[in-house]
Amino acid sequence: MTQAPPPDRPADPLARKHEAWSGLFSEPMSALVQRYTASVGFDRRLWRADIAGSLAHAEMLAAQGVITAQDLADIQRGLAQIGQEIEAGQFEWQLALEDVHLNIEARLTALVGDAGKKLHTGRSRNDQVATDLRLWLREEIDGIAALLLAMQRALVDLAAGHADTVMPGYTHLQVAQPVSFAHHLLAYVEMYARDAERLAELRRRVNRLPLGAAALAGTGYPLDRERVARTLGFEGLCQNSLDAVSDRDFALEFAAFAAICMVHVSRLAEEIVLWMNQNFGFIDLADRYCTGSSIMPQKRNPDVAELARGKSGRVVGHLMGLITLMKGQPLAYNKDNQEDKEPLFDTVDTLGATLRIMAEMVGGIRVRAQAMERAALAGYATATDLADYLVRKGLPFRDAHEAVARAVKLAIGRGVDLAALPLAELQALQPLIGADVAEVLTLRGSLAARDSLGGTAPAQVRAQIERHRARLGDA
Ligand code: ARG
Repeated sequence: MTQAPPPDRPADPLARKHEAWSGLFSEPMSALVQRYTASVGFDRRLWRADIAGSLAHAEMLAAQGVITAQDLADIQRGLAQIGQEIEAGQFEWQLALEDVHLNIEARLTALVGDAGKKLHTGRSRNDQVATDLRLWLREEIDGIAALLLAMQRALVDLAAGHADTVMPGYTHLQVAQPVSFAHHLLAYVEMYARDAERLAELRRRVNRLPLGAAALAGTGYPLDRERVARTLGFEGLCQNSLDAVSDRDFALEFAAFAAICMVHVSRLAEEIVLWMNQNFGFIDLADRYCTGSSIMPQKRNPDVAELARGKSGRVVGHLMGLITLMKGQPLAYNKDNQEDKEPLFDTVDTLGATLRIMAEMVGGIRVRAQAMERAALAGYATATDLADYLVRKGLPFRDAHEAVARAVKLAIGRGVDLAALPLAELQALQPLIGADVAEVLTLRGSLAARDSLGGTAPAQVRAQIERHRARLGDA
Protein backbone atom coordinates (compact mmCIF):
# COMPACT_ATOMS: atom_id res chain seq x y z
CA MET A 1 0.00 0.00 0.00
CA THR A 2 2.44 2.62 1.18
CA GLN A 3 5.07 3.67 -1.22
CA ALA A 4 7.92 6.10 -1.25
CA PRO A 5 6.57 9.50 -2.22
CA PRO A 6 7.66 10.49 -5.70
CA PRO A 7 9.83 13.54 -6.26
CA ASP A 8 8.05 16.80 -5.60
CA ARG A 9 8.12 18.03 -9.15
CA PRO A 10 8.38 16.27 -12.46
CA ALA A 11 11.55 17.32 -14.26
CA ASP A 12 9.56 18.38 -17.28
CA PRO A 13 6.06 19.76 -16.69
CA LEU A 14 5.13 19.11 -20.30
CA ALA A 15 5.92 15.45 -19.89
CA ARG A 16 3.71 15.53 -16.82
CA LYS A 17 0.92 17.09 -18.81
CA HIS A 18 1.17 14.48 -21.53
CA GLU A 19 0.60 11.95 -18.81
CA ALA A 20 -2.70 13.69 -18.15
CA TRP A 21 -4.08 12.52 -21.44
CA SER A 22 -2.05 9.81 -23.16
CA GLY A 23 1.02 8.71 -24.92
CA LEU A 24 -0.76 9.27 -28.20
CA PHE A 25 1.10 12.44 -29.03
CA SER A 26 4.42 12.18 -30.79
CA GLU A 27 5.58 15.75 -30.46
CA PRO A 28 5.23 18.39 -27.77
CA MET A 29 2.65 21.10 -28.07
CA SER A 30 3.84 24.30 -29.74
CA ALA A 31 4.65 27.06 -27.30
CA LEU A 32 2.14 29.33 -28.99
CA VAL A 33 -0.64 26.78 -28.67
CA GLN A 34 0.29 26.21 -25.08
CA ARG A 35 -0.11 29.88 -24.25
CA TYR A 36 -3.25 30.23 -26.33
CA THR A 37 -5.05 27.30 -24.76
CA ALA A 38 -3.93 27.66 -21.17
CA SER A 39 -6.42 29.02 -18.64
CA VAL A 40 -4.45 28.67 -15.43
CA GLY A 41 -3.66 32.40 -15.50
CA PHE A 42 -7.29 33.07 -14.57
CA ASP A 43 -8.99 29.82 -13.58
CA ARG A 44 -6.61 29.27 -10.65
CA ARG A 45 -9.16 31.41 -8.90
CA LEU A 46 -11.36 28.29 -8.75
CA TRP A 47 -8.88 26.39 -6.61
CA ARG A 48 -10.95 26.18 -3.47
CA ALA A 49 -13.93 24.83 -5.37
CA ASP A 50 -11.67 22.44 -7.27
CA ILE A 51 -10.27 20.98 -4.06
CA ALA A 52 -13.71 20.78 -2.42
CA GLY A 53 -15.08 18.97 -5.48
CA SER A 54 -12.16 16.56 -5.54
CA LEU A 55 -12.52 15.75 -1.85
CA ALA A 56 -16.22 15.01 -2.24
CA HIS A 57 -15.54 12.88 -5.30
CA ALA A 58 -12.75 10.95 -3.55
CA GLU A 59 -14.84 10.30 -0.42
CA MET A 60 -17.59 8.92 -2.61
CA LEU A 61 -15.15 6.77 -4.62
CA ALA A 62 -13.87 5.28 -1.35
CA ALA A 63 -17.38 4.72 0.04
CA GLN A 64 -18.27 2.92 -3.18
CA GLY A 65 -15.13 0.79 -2.99
CA VAL A 66 -13.67 2.23 -6.19
CA ILE A 67 -10.56 3.42 -4.35
CA THR A 68 -9.22 2.23 -1.02
CA ALA A 69 -9.44 3.96 2.34
CA GLN A 70 -5.71 4.48 2.16
CA ASP A 71 -6.03 6.11 -1.26
CA LEU A 72 -8.61 8.45 0.20
CA ALA A 73 -6.40 9.29 3.16
CA ASP A 74 -3.50 10.05 0.81
CA ILE A 75 -5.68 12.23 -1.37
CA GLN A 76 -7.03 14.11 1.65
CA ARG A 77 -3.56 14.69 3.01
CA GLY A 78 -2.22 15.81 -0.36
CA LEU A 79 -5.12 18.17 -1.10
CA ALA A 80 -4.85 19.66 2.39
CA GLN A 81 -1.22 20.44 1.80
CA ILE A 82 -1.96 21.88 -1.64
CA GLY A 83 -4.59 24.15 -0.12
CA GLN A 84 -2.04 25.42 2.36
CA GLU A 85 0.55 25.96 -0.35
CA ILE A 86 -1.85 27.95 -2.49
CA GLU A 87 -3.02 30.04 0.43
CA ALA A 88 0.54 30.79 1.43
CA GLY A 89 1.38 31.81 -2.13
CA GLN A 90 3.86 28.97 -2.37
CA PHE A 91 2.13 26.91 -5.00
CA GLU A 92 3.97 26.90 -8.30
CA TRP A 93 1.33 27.35 -10.97
CA GLN A 94 2.59 26.04 -14.29
CA LEU A 95 1.37 27.23 -17.64
CA ALA A 96 2.45 23.95 -19.17
CA LEU A 97 -0.13 22.24 -16.98
CA GLU A 98 -2.84 24.27 -18.72
CA ASP A 99 -5.49 24.82 -16.07
CA VAL A 100 -6.27 24.78 -12.38
CA HIS A 101 -7.44 21.16 -12.53
CA LEU A 102 -4.30 19.69 -14.06
CA ASN A 103 -2.05 21.86 -11.88
CA ILE A 104 -3.64 20.59 -8.69
CA GLU A 105 -3.81 17.00 -9.89
CA ALA A 106 -0.16 17.00 -10.95
CA ARG A 107 0.92 18.38 -7.60
CA LEU A 108 -1.25 15.85 -5.80
CA THR A 109 0.40 12.99 -7.66
CA ALA A 110 3.80 14.50 -6.96
CA LEU A 111 2.93 14.58 -3.26
CA VAL A 112 1.13 11.27 -2.73
CA GLY A 113 1.88 9.11 -5.76
CA ASP A 114 -0.58 6.63 -7.23
CA ALA A 115 -3.53 7.71 -5.11
CA GLY A 116 -3.29 11.06 -6.87
CA LYS A 117 -3.59 9.32 -10.20
CA LYS A 118 -6.74 7.52 -9.04
CA LEU A 119 -8.58 10.72 -8.14
CA HIS A 120 -9.73 11.24 -11.71
CA THR A 121 -11.51 7.86 -11.85
CA GLY A 122 -15.05 8.27 -13.17
CA ARG A 123 -14.51 11.96 -13.69
CA SER A 124 -13.57 14.27 -16.54
CA ARG A 125 -12.40 17.84 -16.53
CA ASN A 126 -15.67 18.54 -18.33
CA ASP A 127 -17.88 17.72 -15.36
CA GLN A 128 -15.16 18.89 -12.99
CA VAL A 129 -14.97 22.43 -14.36
CA ALA A 130 -18.75 22.75 -14.52
CA THR A 131 -18.91 21.68 -10.87
CA ASP A 132 -16.13 24.06 -9.83
CA LEU A 133 -17.74 26.99 -11.53
CA ARG A 134 -21.11 26.33 -9.92
CA LEU A 135 -19.55 25.95 -6.48
CA TRP A 136 -17.57 29.12 -6.91
CA LEU A 137 -20.51 31.11 -8.22
CA ARG A 138 -22.79 29.88 -5.45
CA GLU A 139 -20.47 31.38 -2.87
CA GLU A 140 -20.13 34.64 -4.77
CA ILE A 141 -23.92 34.83 -5.06
CA ASP A 142 -24.19 34.76 -1.29
CA GLY A 143 -21.74 37.64 -1.06
CA ILE A 144 -23.64 39.66 -3.67
CA ALA A 145 -26.94 38.94 -1.89
CA ALA A 146 -25.51 40.46 1.30
CA LEU A 147 -24.36 43.52 -0.64
CA LEU A 148 -27.83 43.92 -2.14
CA LEU A 149 -29.28 43.90 1.37
CA ALA A 150 -26.79 46.55 2.48
CA MET A 151 -27.68 48.68 -0.52
CA GLN A 152 -31.39 48.48 0.26
CA ARG A 153 -30.79 49.28 3.91
CA ALA A 154 -28.71 52.33 3.04
CA LEU A 155 -31.51 53.64 0.82
CA VAL A 156 -34.24 52.92 3.37
CA ASP A 157 -32.20 54.59 6.13
CA LEU A 158 -31.76 57.71 4.02
CA ALA A 159 -35.43 57.67 3.03
CA ALA A 160 -36.58 57.39 6.64
CA GLY A 161 -35.76 61.05 7.30
CA HIS A 162 -37.34 62.39 4.12
CA ALA A 163 -40.99 61.36 3.82
CA ASP A 164 -41.83 65.09 4.09
CA THR A 165 -38.97 66.42 1.99
CA VAL A 166 -40.53 67.61 -1.25
CA MET A 167 -38.75 67.47 -4.57
CA PRO A 168 -39.99 67.72 -8.12
CA GLY A 169 -40.99 64.41 -9.61
CA TYR A 170 -40.12 64.30 -13.29
CA THR A 171 -41.35 62.83 -16.51
CA HIS A 172 -39.26 63.53 -19.61
CA LEU A 173 -36.91 65.13 -17.07
CA GLN A 174 -39.42 68.01 -16.91
CA VAL A 175 -40.99 68.93 -13.58
CA ALA A 176 -44.19 66.90 -13.34
CA GLN A 177 -45.65 66.55 -9.82
CA PRO A 178 -44.24 66.93 -6.33
CA VAL A 179 -42.93 63.74 -4.72
CA SER A 180 -41.04 63.20 -1.53
CA PHE A 181 -37.34 62.44 -1.66
CA ALA A 182 -38.08 59.31 0.36
CA HIS A 183 -40.57 58.17 -2.26
CA HIS A 184 -37.98 58.66 -4.98
CA LEU A 185 -35.37 56.65 -3.05
CA LEU A 186 -37.84 53.85 -2.36
CA ALA A 187 -38.28 53.38 -6.10
CA TYR A 188 -34.67 52.19 -6.15
CA VAL A 189 -35.29 49.96 -3.16
CA GLU A 190 -37.96 48.22 -5.25
CA MET A 191 -35.43 47.65 -8.04
CA TYR A 192 -32.83 46.17 -5.74
CA ALA A 193 -35.49 44.05 -4.03
CA ARG A 194 -36.38 42.55 -7.41
CA ASP A 195 -32.69 41.97 -8.08
CA ALA A 196 -32.38 40.13 -4.78
CA GLU A 197 -35.42 38.02 -5.62
CA ARG A 198 -34.02 37.20 -9.06
CA LEU A 199 -30.70 36.24 -7.52
CA ALA A 200 -32.29 33.91 -4.99
CA GLU A 201 -34.26 32.22 -7.75
CA LEU A 202 -31.33 31.67 -10.05
CA ARG A 203 -29.20 30.42 -7.18
CA ARG A 204 -31.37 27.31 -7.10
CA ARG A 205 -30.46 26.55 -10.69
CA VAL A 206 -26.78 27.27 -10.11
CA ASN A 207 -26.88 24.85 -7.20
CA ARG A 208 -27.15 21.59 -9.14
CA LEU A 209 -24.38 19.04 -9.46
CA PRO A 210 -22.90 18.14 -12.87
CA LEU A 211 -20.20 15.84 -11.45
CA GLY A 212 -20.78 12.22 -12.40
CA ALA A 213 -21.59 13.10 -15.99
CA ALA A 214 -17.91 12.39 -16.71
CA ALA A 215 -16.79 13.46 -20.19
CA LEU A 216 -20.27 13.51 -21.71
CA ALA A 217 -22.00 10.13 -21.51
CA GLY A 218 -21.88 9.16 -17.86
CA THR A 219 -19.59 6.48 -16.52
CA GLY A 220 -19.50 2.77 -15.81
CA TYR A 221 -18.11 3.20 -12.28
CA PRO A 222 -20.69 2.76 -9.54
CA LEU A 223 -20.78 6.43 -8.59
CA ASP A 224 -23.12 7.77 -5.94
CA ARG A 225 -23.94 11.18 -7.32
CA GLU A 226 -26.53 11.91 -4.63
CA ARG A 227 -23.88 11.51 -2.00
CA VAL A 228 -21.51 13.93 -3.73
CA ALA A 229 -24.37 16.42 -4.08
CA ARG A 230 -25.12 16.17 -0.36
CA THR A 231 -21.47 16.58 0.59
CA LEU A 232 -21.15 19.71 -1.51
CA GLY A 233 -24.51 21.17 -0.52
CA PHE A 234 -26.06 20.96 -3.98
CA GLU A 235 -29.85 20.97 -4.07
CA GLY A 236 -30.13 18.62 -7.00
CA LEU A 237 -28.38 16.77 -9.80
CA CYS A 238 -28.01 17.69 -13.44
CA GLN A 239 -30.08 14.88 -14.93
CA ASN A 240 -28.65 14.51 -18.42
CA SER A 241 -24.92 13.96 -18.75
CA LEU A 242 -24.65 15.78 -22.09
CA ASP A 243 -26.46 18.78 -20.67
CA ALA A 244 -24.54 18.59 -17.41
CA VAL A 245 -21.15 19.19 -19.02
CA SER A 246 -22.26 21.70 -21.64
CA ASP A 247 -24.87 23.79 -19.86
CA ARG A 248 -23.83 27.32 -18.91
CA ASP A 249 -27.35 28.71 -18.44
CA PHE A 250 -26.51 29.27 -14.82
CA ALA A 251 -23.73 31.65 -15.83
CA LEU A 252 -25.93 33.41 -18.37
CA GLU A 253 -28.68 33.84 -15.82
CA PHE A 254 -26.25 35.32 -13.36
CA ALA A 255 -24.83 37.64 -16.02
CA ALA A 256 -28.36 38.74 -16.94
CA PHE A 257 -29.16 39.38 -13.30
CA ALA A 258 -25.93 41.35 -12.94
CA ALA A 259 -26.60 43.40 -16.07
CA ILE A 260 -30.07 44.35 -14.85
CA CYS A 261 -28.74 45.16 -11.40
CA MET A 262 -25.95 47.32 -12.86
CA VAL A 263 -28.53 49.17 -14.92
CA HIS A 264 -30.33 49.99 -11.68
CA VAL A 265 -27.06 51.14 -10.19
CA SER A 266 -26.36 53.20 -13.28
CA ARG A 267 -29.72 54.98 -13.14
CA LEU A 268 -29.19 55.90 -9.50
CA ALA A 269 -25.63 57.00 -10.29
CA GLU A 270 -26.94 59.23 -13.07
CA GLU A 271 -29.39 60.87 -10.68
CA ILE A 272 -26.69 61.42 -8.10
CA VAL A 273 -24.60 63.16 -10.75
CA LEU A 274 -27.58 65.33 -11.73
CA TRP A 275 -28.53 66.14 -8.15
CA MET A 276 -24.93 67.17 -7.42
CA ASN A 277 -24.93 69.55 -10.37
CA GLN A 278 -24.99 73.20 -9.23
CA ASN A 279 -28.18 73.87 -11.22
CA PHE A 280 -29.98 71.22 -9.18
CA GLY A 281 -28.05 71.42 -5.93
CA PHE A 282 -30.32 68.77 -4.38
CA ILE A 283 -27.60 66.84 -2.59
CA ASP A 284 -24.02 66.97 -1.59
CA LEU A 285 -21.70 64.02 -1.36
CA ALA A 286 -19.24 63.58 1.45
CA ASP A 287 -15.76 64.74 0.39
CA ARG A 288 -14.39 61.24 0.72
CA TYR A 289 -16.44 60.17 -2.30
CA CYS A 290 -15.46 63.12 -4.49
CA THR A 291 -12.39 63.95 -6.48
CA GLY A 292 -10.93 67.30 -7.40
CA SER A 293 -9.59 68.68 -10.63
CA SER A 294 -5.92 69.26 -11.30
CA ILE A 295 -6.67 72.52 -13.10
CA MET A 296 -9.99 73.91 -11.77
CA PRO A 297 -9.62 74.58 -8.06
CA GLN A 298 -13.35 74.89 -7.39
CA LYS A 299 -14.27 71.40 -8.67
CA ARG A 300 -15.66 68.51 -6.67
CA ASN A 301 -16.52 65.71 -9.06
CA PRO A 302 -18.81 62.72 -8.43
CA ASP A 303 -16.32 60.29 -10.01
CA VAL A 304 -17.58 57.27 -8.13
CA ALA A 305 -21.11 57.67 -9.47
CA GLU A 306 -19.78 58.29 -12.96
CA LEU A 307 -17.60 55.19 -12.85
CA ALA A 308 -20.47 53.09 -11.54
CA ARG A 309 -22.55 54.32 -14.46
CA GLY A 310 -19.70 53.54 -16.84
CA LYS A 311 -19.07 50.08 -15.46
CA SER A 312 -22.63 49.08 -16.20
CA GLY A 313 -21.60 49.01 -19.87
CA ARG A 314 -18.91 46.51 -19.11
CA VAL A 315 -21.24 44.16 -17.25
CA VAL A 316 -23.90 44.37 -19.95
CA GLY A 317 -21.10 43.56 -22.40
CA HIS A 318 -20.21 40.42 -20.45
CA LEU A 319 -23.80 39.22 -20.79
CA MET A 320 -23.57 39.70 -24.55
CA GLY A 321 -20.23 37.92 -24.64
CA LEU A 322 -21.44 34.94 -22.65
CA ILE A 323 -24.71 34.49 -24.45
CA THR A 324 -22.93 34.69 -27.81
CA LEU A 325 -20.33 32.20 -26.58
CA MET A 326 -23.06 29.59 -26.19
CA LYS A 327 -24.93 30.30 -29.38
CA GLY A 328 -23.30 27.99 -31.90
CA GLN A 329 -22.02 25.20 -29.69
CA PRO A 330 -23.01 21.66 -30.59
CA LEU A 331 -23.35 19.22 -27.70
CA ALA A 332 -21.56 18.49 -25.54
CA TYR A 333 -18.44 20.12 -24.04
CA ASN A 334 -16.40 22.38 -26.30
CA LYS A 335 -13.28 24.27 -25.42
CA ASP A 336 -15.24 27.44 -26.18
CA ASN A 337 -16.56 27.09 -22.66
CA GLN A 338 -13.21 28.00 -21.22
CA GLU A 339 -14.10 31.52 -22.35
CA ASP A 340 -16.91 31.66 -19.80
CA LYS A 341 -14.62 32.39 -16.90
CA GLU A 342 -13.09 35.80 -17.46
CA PRO A 343 -16.40 37.55 -18.17
CA LEU A 344 -18.05 35.78 -15.26
CA PHE A 345 -15.22 36.65 -12.87
CA ASP A 346 -15.21 40.26 -13.99
CA THR A 347 -18.99 40.45 -13.68
CA VAL A 348 -18.81 39.30 -10.06
CA ASP A 349 -15.90 41.63 -9.26
CA THR A 350 -17.39 44.68 -10.93
CA LEU A 351 -20.87 44.22 -9.51
CA GLY A 352 -19.58 43.47 -6.01
CA ALA A 353 -17.23 46.45 -5.88
CA THR A 354 -19.86 48.76 -7.32
CA LEU A 355 -22.62 47.72 -4.92
CA ARG A 356 -20.28 48.06 -1.98
CA ILE A 357 -19.13 51.57 -2.80
CA MET A 358 -22.54 52.83 -3.90
CA ALA A 359 -24.18 51.65 -0.67
CA GLU A 360 -21.50 53.43 1.30
CA MET A 361 -21.84 56.58 -0.75
CA VAL A 362 -25.62 56.66 -0.37
CA GLY A 363 -25.02 56.61 3.39
CA GLY A 364 -22.95 59.78 2.98
CA ILE A 365 -25.52 61.81 0.99
CA ARG A 366 -26.40 65.20 2.48
CA VAL A 367 -29.81 66.43 1.42
CA ARG A 368 -30.46 70.07 0.48
CA ALA A 369 -34.20 70.10 1.19
CA GLN A 370 -34.68 73.76 0.39
CA ALA A 371 -33.17 73.46 -3.06
CA MET A 372 -35.46 70.49 -3.78
CA GLU A 373 -38.48 72.46 -2.64
CA ARG A 374 -37.50 75.54 -4.65
CA ALA A 375 -37.19 73.40 -7.75
CA ALA A 376 -40.62 71.87 -7.16
CA LEU A 377 -42.15 75.33 -6.74
CA ALA A 378 -40.49 76.63 -9.89
CA GLY A 379 -42.01 74.07 -12.20
CA TYR A 380 -45.79 74.42 -11.70
CA ALA A 381 -45.73 71.00 -10.14
CA THR A 382 -49.18 71.49 -8.57
CA ALA A 383 -50.97 72.13 -11.86
CA THR A 384 -52.50 68.65 -11.79
CA ASP A 385 -53.72 69.33 -8.27
CA LEU A 386 -55.58 72.39 -9.50
CA ALA A 387 -57.18 70.33 -12.26
CA ASP A 388 -58.18 67.63 -9.76
CA TYR A 389 -59.66 70.38 -7.55
CA LEU A 390 -61.87 71.55 -10.42
CA VAL A 391 -62.94 67.98 -11.12
CA ARG A 392 -64.05 67.72 -7.50
CA LYS A 393 -66.10 70.87 -8.09
CA GLY A 394 -67.89 69.14 -10.94
CA LEU A 395 -65.90 70.16 -14.02
CA PRO A 396 -65.12 67.39 -16.55
CA PHE A 397 -61.38 66.58 -16.41
CA ARG A 398 -60.62 67.74 -19.98
CA ASP A 399 -62.17 71.15 -19.30
CA ALA A 400 -60.31 71.39 -16.01
CA HIS A 401 -57.06 70.55 -17.82
CA GLU A 402 -57.71 73.35 -20.30
CA ALA A 403 -58.53 75.92 -17.61
CA VAL A 404 -55.37 75.08 -15.67
CA ALA A 405 -53.25 75.30 -18.81
CA ARG A 406 -54.47 78.88 -19.23
CA ALA A 407 -53.68 79.61 -15.58
CA VAL A 408 -50.14 78.23 -16.03
CA LYS A 409 -49.69 80.36 -19.13
CA LEU A 410 -50.73 83.43 -17.15
CA ALA A 411 -48.35 82.54 -14.33
CA ILE A 412 -45.46 81.95 -16.74
CA GLY A 413 -46.14 85.36 -18.31
CA ARG A 414 -45.89 86.97 -14.88
CA GLY A 415 -42.93 84.87 -13.86
CA VAL A 416 -44.74 83.66 -10.72
CA ASP A 417 -46.00 80.39 -9.26
CA LEU A 418 -49.66 79.35 -9.55
CA ALA A 419 -50.15 80.01 -5.84
CA ALA A 420 -49.09 83.64 -6.37
CA LEU A 421 -51.89 84.45 -8.87
CA PRO A 422 -54.62 86.59 -7.28
CA LEU A 423 -57.81 84.64 -6.59
CA ALA A 424 -59.88 87.07 -8.70
CA GLU A 425 -57.76 86.34 -11.76
CA LEU A 426 -58.04 82.60 -11.25
CA GLN A 427 -61.79 82.99 -10.91
CA ALA A 428 -61.88 85.00 -14.13
CA LEU A 429 -60.37 81.95 -15.84
CA GLN A 430 -62.69 79.49 -14.12
CA PRO A 431 -65.53 80.64 -11.81
CA LEU A 432 -65.61 77.31 -9.93
CA ILE A 433 -62.34 78.24 -8.22
CA GLY A 434 -62.92 79.32 -4.63
CA ALA A 435 -60.79 80.59 -1.75
CA ASP A 436 -60.15 76.99 -0.67
CA VAL A 437 -57.85 76.60 -3.70
CA ALA A 438 -54.89 77.99 -1.73
CA GLU A 439 -54.43 74.73 0.19
CA VAL A 440 -54.50 72.72 -3.03
CA LEU A 441 -51.70 74.72 -4.61
CA THR A 442 -49.16 74.03 -1.86
CA LEU A 443 -46.55 71.33 -2.31
CA ARG A 444 -47.49 69.65 0.95
CA GLY A 445 -51.17 69.64 0.04
CA SER A 446 -50.28 68.03 -3.26
CA LEU A 447 -48.15 65.39 -1.58
CA ALA A 448 -50.76 64.53 1.03
CA ALA A 449 -53.41 64.18 -1.67
CA ARG A 450 -51.55 61.33 -3.44
CA ASP A 451 -52.63 58.82 -0.85
CA SER A 452 -53.26 55.82 -3.09
CA LEU A 453 -51.37 52.64 -2.24
CA GLY A 454 -47.83 53.16 -3.50
CA GLY A 455 -48.38 56.91 -3.80
CA THR A 456 -46.14 59.67 -2.48
CA ALA A 457 -48.32 60.82 0.45
CA PRO A 458 -46.15 60.79 3.59
CA ALA A 459 -48.46 58.26 5.28
CA GLN A 460 -48.05 55.86 2.35
CA VAL A 461 -44.31 56.36 2.23
CA ARG A 462 -43.94 55.74 5.95
CA ALA A 463 -45.91 52.53 5.60
CA GLN A 464 -43.56 51.44 2.81
CA ILE A 465 -40.53 52.23 4.93
CA GLU A 466 -41.94 50.04 7.69
CA ARG A 467 -42.63 47.25 5.23
CA HIS A 468 -39.08 47.40 3.90
CA ARG A 469 -37.60 47.48 7.38
CA ALA A 470 -39.55 44.37 8.35
CA ARG A 471 -38.61 42.65 5.09
CA LEU A 472 -34.93 43.54 5.47
CA GLY A 473 -34.96 42.20 8.98
CA ASP A 474 -34.22 45.42 10.84
CA ALA A 475 -37.67 46.52 11.96
N1 ARG B 1 -9.93 24.50 -18.66
C1 ARG B 1 -11.07 23.86 -19.20
C2 ARG B 1 -12.25 24.81 -19.18
O1 ARG B 1 -12.15 25.83 -18.60
C3 ARG B 1 -11.41 22.66 -18.40
C4 ARG B 1 -12.15 21.62 -19.18
C5 ARG B 1 -11.27 21.09 -20.23
N2 ARG B 1 -11.84 19.94 -20.86
C6 ARG B 1 -11.36 19.47 -22.00
N3 ARG B 1 -11.95 18.44 -22.46
N4 ARG B 1 -10.35 20.02 -22.59
O2 ARG B 1 -13.28 24.58 -19.75
